[in-house]
Formats: sequence, structure tokens, C-alpha cells
Amino acid sequence: MVKKFFVPRGTSDILPADTGIWQSLEIVVRKTLHIYGYKEIRTPVFEETGLFIRSIGATTDVVQKQMLQLAAQGGENESIALSGLALRPEGTAAVARAYIENNFDKVEPLSKLYYIGPMFRGERPQKGRLRQFHQIGVEAMGPQSGSPYLDAEMISLSVRILERLGLKDFQLKINSLGTREDKAAFSETLRTGLQPFLDTLCDDCRSRYERNVFRILDCKNKSCKNIVQRLNISDAHLSPASRLYFQEVCRILDGLGVRYVHAPAMVRGLDYYTHTVFEISDPSLGSQDALGAGGRYNTLVQELGGVDVDAMGFALGIERLLLAMPEQKTPASPQNMDVYMIALGQNSCEEGFRFLHALRGAGISCDMGYRPASMKSQMRQAGKSGARLVLIFGEEERQRGVVTLKDMAQGDQKDVPSSELVEVVRRALS
Ligand code: HAM
Repeated sequence: MVKKFFVPRGTSDILPADTGIWQSLEIVVRKTLHIYGYKEIRTPVFEETGLFIRSIGATTDVVQKQMLQLAAQGGENESIALSGLALRPEGTAAVARAYIENNFDKVEPLSKLYYIGPMFRGERPQKGRLRQFHQIGVEAMGPQSGSPYLDAEMISLSVRILERLGLKDFQLKINSLGTREDKAAFSETLRTGLQPFLDTLCDDCRSRYERNVFRILDCKNKSCKNIVQRLNISDAHLSPASRLYFQEVCRILDGLGVRYVHAPAMVRGLDYYTHTVFEISDPSLGSQDALGAGGRYNTLVQELGGVDVDAMGFALGIERLLLAMPEQKTPASPQNMDVYMIALGQNSCEEGFRFLHALRGAGISCDMGYRPASMKSQMRQAGKSGARLVLIFGEEERQRGVVTLKDMAQGDQKDVPSSELVEVVRRALS
């Protein structure tokens, strides 16, 4: 038996029946990002593993449990070894790397960048959680990015994208982690608060207590959740300056009419965040309900060897957006053909194929069945293609130097001299 191959676990084919919806979504997103002044950047799907460890954090789940590393050595055959590289689990680190490498700080005071593409995490697959998924990511970095208006822009932009996609029932949560020093104070407060409950925490959280206490706040275990709730986490760890900054962000958001909830226990799963963080969820998605998330990362560029510039960004998960989008708001982009050519007999097929070449050269979308088949079966194909015009070209038409043109909507048909075919078709379609 010949071995059959299947799409790898946690990934999926996006089939032609669905690519129209993906394209429509991308058009809406690109238009919106253009309106806000963001430009597209494309980085490789793999980077040095160290880049992700240093930015996302060595003790995070994404790095510890989910990073898909490329082969450490070349295989048995002569394949190239890609040691020290990992498939990107997210886009922020790569964009910061590209920002530094290309000296963007010398070119412009604020780089406003976005990307749309696949990300990879070795997670246990379930609805809305994949090993290859797609993100729309937006990042702004540069000497001028340290303004609460940028925080408000990022948050309101993510909301606007969702609204433009027809989403309504999402919830926005925001919080501030403060500076690196504030975060250290926050982590100490948490440790002190959690200490009496160490024995009741799950095994994972007991080790998180030592390595990265913030991760305990994301634990899904019921008893850990209860303990966290009893801590009554507040924003007491914020310095006066950090608190003022966050108040400014909230004030500006209020002025824009953006509705949010302040969630003091929300810390996010990636280590690079400072100050404002936010998450958008949709209850209709079940357990994997995060549509997107983001925040400030004011120290990351410098930590990766770049200049000291502030930065902020967010990412939305496309698969989850599609799950949450209302049916009527997912229009398929037109994939119908303009013209379908029915050629009958070998000689007509050869000449019909040349007509097709000429029509395509003139920018007219058209197709044909490449093997001679009956009129009936080709007509069926023509119907399936959704073509507005059907060209019928049999031996008799060939002898007379004409092609029969049938308008599918109106039902009428006429003979067109072969030499005028492109022009007549063009006029009929306009
Ligand atoms: P994140 O929260 O790890 O943040 O991911 C952002 C979004 O990607 C999630 O809210 C979710 O919609 C989607 N997502 C994540 N993992 C999966 C998965 N396994 N399957 C399906 N969808 C998934 C980041 O990645 C940060 N880079 C966001 C950011 C940009 N912060 C600042 N700039």
C-alpha cells in the first residue's frame, strides 16, 4: 500500500472555498491600517532561537513548551542543517530585530509597521488553538513612540478593525504593568501574597513561583484561580509616574468613546511587556477566547542591542476572527470566471486554446476543459465556473471562422468573427 500523507496535526489547508473570505478580511485590515499610517513589513518565518528566548522570556510557556525548533543537525541525507533556528511563535521580536538591523531609528522618528502571516507554536491543538495560525500584527517603535496617544491609537485601532469586520460582542480589558522596576515590585508583592498558599498551588505554579510568578495569574487550574482571586490584586505596585501615564491612556480612550474594563490581574504571557497591556476576548469562542492582545514593550529594542526607544503593538489571530465573525459579514471575494470556452473536437481545442491565450493576454479571466468532451458535460463545467459569457467553438464554427458567444444571464447568443473575438468579449463584459 502506498503511504498517504495528511495535513500535519494542528495545521489546516485553507481551501479555495475559504480563501475568498481570507482575502476579504485582509483587504479590510490593510485598508484600515493604511488609514492609520501603518506600512507592511515581511520578515522570515524562522529566526535565531535566541531572539525569541531573549524577547519573549526563557521562562514563558511559549519558549519553554511551544517553540518549534528546526533540526539541530543535518539529516541522514545531504539536507542543510538549520541549527539554532526556530519557527517564529509571534512577530514582535522579529520586527524589533529588523528595526535594529535596518537602523530605522535614524530614518524616522516613529516606525509604524504591520504584518500578516503564519506563526507557529507547538501547542496541543483544539478549537481555535493551532500549531500554525495566522496573525495580523501591528507594531510602532521609535524615539517618538513614548506617548499615551500611541497607546490609545493601538487599542482603538484594534477595536476598529474588529468593528469593521462586523464583530460586536467582544470585550476589551486593559491594565498597566508599569516600568521594569514596577514589575519587580509587583512580582515581590505577588510572592508575598502567594506564600501562605504555596502548598495548595498546582505543581506547575509551584515552579512558576520560583521562576516567573506572573505566570501563576494565567493558570487555568481552579484552585490556583481561587487563590489568585483572594489576593485582591490592585495597581499598588505602580509608581506615581506610571500610574499617571496609565490614567492618561484611560482618559484619552474615554475621549474616543472606547469601552474597556480595567483588569489589574491581567499580566499577559510574554515577558517583554511594560506599562499598558490589553486583551480582547469574545465569549462565543469558548475556552480559546482571546481574539487578540498587545501592549507596550519599552525596553525590548534596547535589550536586543538597539537604541533606547519605546514601542507598542498588538496582534489579532485570524482563525479566531473568522470563527467569531458573523456569517453575513464574511463575503467571498469574486472568484468567478468572466468567460468559459467550450471547444468541440481536437482541432477546435487547439485553436480554442489560442483564443484563451489571447483573451488572458487582454486581462480577461477565462478557462476551458483541456480534453475534448461532450457539449453537455462542458456546459455543466461552464455553469460551475460562474462565467458570464460562454464561447462555443466546434468544427462548424472553425470552418466558418467564427466563435459563438452566449450571454449566460440574458440567454441570447451570436456569432463573432474569430479575428474580433477579444474586442467583442471585452465590450460585452464592460
Ligand atoms: P499573543 O497573545 O501570544 O500575543 O497572540 C496574539 C493572538 O494570536 C491571540 O490573542 C490569538 O488570537 C492568536 N493566537 C495565539 N496563539 C494561537 C494559537 N495557538 N492558535 C490560534 N491563534 C493563536 C502576541 O503574539 C504578541 N506578539 C502580540 C503583540 C504584538 N504584542 C505587542 N505587539
